[in-house]
Amino acid sequence: MPKDIFGKNHQFLPPSELLSYDDIEKLVKAFTVLGVSKVRLTGGEPLLRKDLERLISRLSNIEGINDVAMTTNASLLTKQRALSLKAAGVRRINISFDAITPEIYRKINEINYPMQDILNGIRNAIDVGLETVKVNMVVQKGINETDIIPMVKHFRGSGVILRFIEFMDVGNHNKWNLARVFTSQEIINTINEQYPLRVVGENYPGEVAKRWEYLDGEGEIGVISSITQPFCGDCSRARLSAIGELYTCLFSRSGFDLRGMLRKQFNQEQIVEALAKIWTNRTDQYSVERFKNPGGVGSHRNSQKVEMSYIGG
Ligand SMILES: C[S@@+](CC[C@H](N)C(=O)[O-])C[C@H]1O[C@@H](n2cnc3c(N)ncnc32)[C@H](O)[C@@H]1O
Repeated sequence: MPKDIFGKNHQFLPPSELLSYDDIEKLVKAFTVLGVSKVRLTGGEPLLRKDLERLISRLSNIEGINDVAMTTNASLLTKQRALSLKAAGVRRINISFDAITPEIYRKINEINYPMQDILNGIRNAIDVGLETVKVNMVVQKGINETDIIPMVKHFRGSGVILRFIEFMDVGNHNKWNLARVFTSQEIINTINEQYPLRVVGENYPGEVAKRWEYLDGEGEIGVISSITQPFCGDCSRARLSAIGELYTCLFSRSGFDLRGMLRKQFNQEQIVEALAKIWTNRTDQYSVERFKNPGGVGSHRNSQKVEMSYIGG
């Protein structure tokens, strides 16, 4: 949660507002009827949720779900936790980690969180043998682009897939402007100068990261070009907030209330029908329109988009 949202008077939601694990399971089952096979738990910070493993095992046991993944800051990812997540059914984990030079890390992190804890969390994820461990680095010009090579040096050959994400104008608090975007092309050029790369094909159609591998066989990296090469046309992500709003775009201003349907005892058929309608009628393609907006680049910025900490990445 960004520091300026997490003020002294921050009001936490009462538990009765949140979707219960029963609710989440019901919704995921409905999504599978429409072809969804992958669920990612994100946040906020998913590891803060009580009894998360119980939810994970319920989701992994749903017929049709073949992939339960998680995005976390890894601050609570002890070896024990990594083992219990794996046992519950997590196969793949993405860990957010934007810098490895202590001063840069401190500047980005803002609350002086010990960097070593995150490195330990990444280690734990590898050691327990999760199928895929990725590290996400959001690159901001003037902030951490000088850490691209140190991150590459650290993670090359470790089995971790390092992914570089263009800094996006998500939410309303991250002081985004185009000058702060270090582009995927710049990222690739920077790495390629020292560690030659070649393109690798997609794992599956619509994969958000473009994959590259080191010519010397030390593994692969990914780049996510959300600003310079928007992929709205291929986007197949539906996002569900903790209180049951369905967002059809990371940059939406509002979501569709699914919790209301659950509270009104809608049956699965009715929920599936509603989901299909929302999905087929969606028109949002914010990233494609970012530069076409008559107000100019980033002029949607003040229009109260949903916060990243609320909806996940
Ligand atoms: C919002 S976090 C939530 C999950 C968890 N708390 C964590 O830290 O991983 C999910 C991901 O969003 C990405 N992210 C956050 N802000 C971003 C921004 N402005 N531009 C691009 N990606 C961003 C980060 O890569 C992070 O890995």
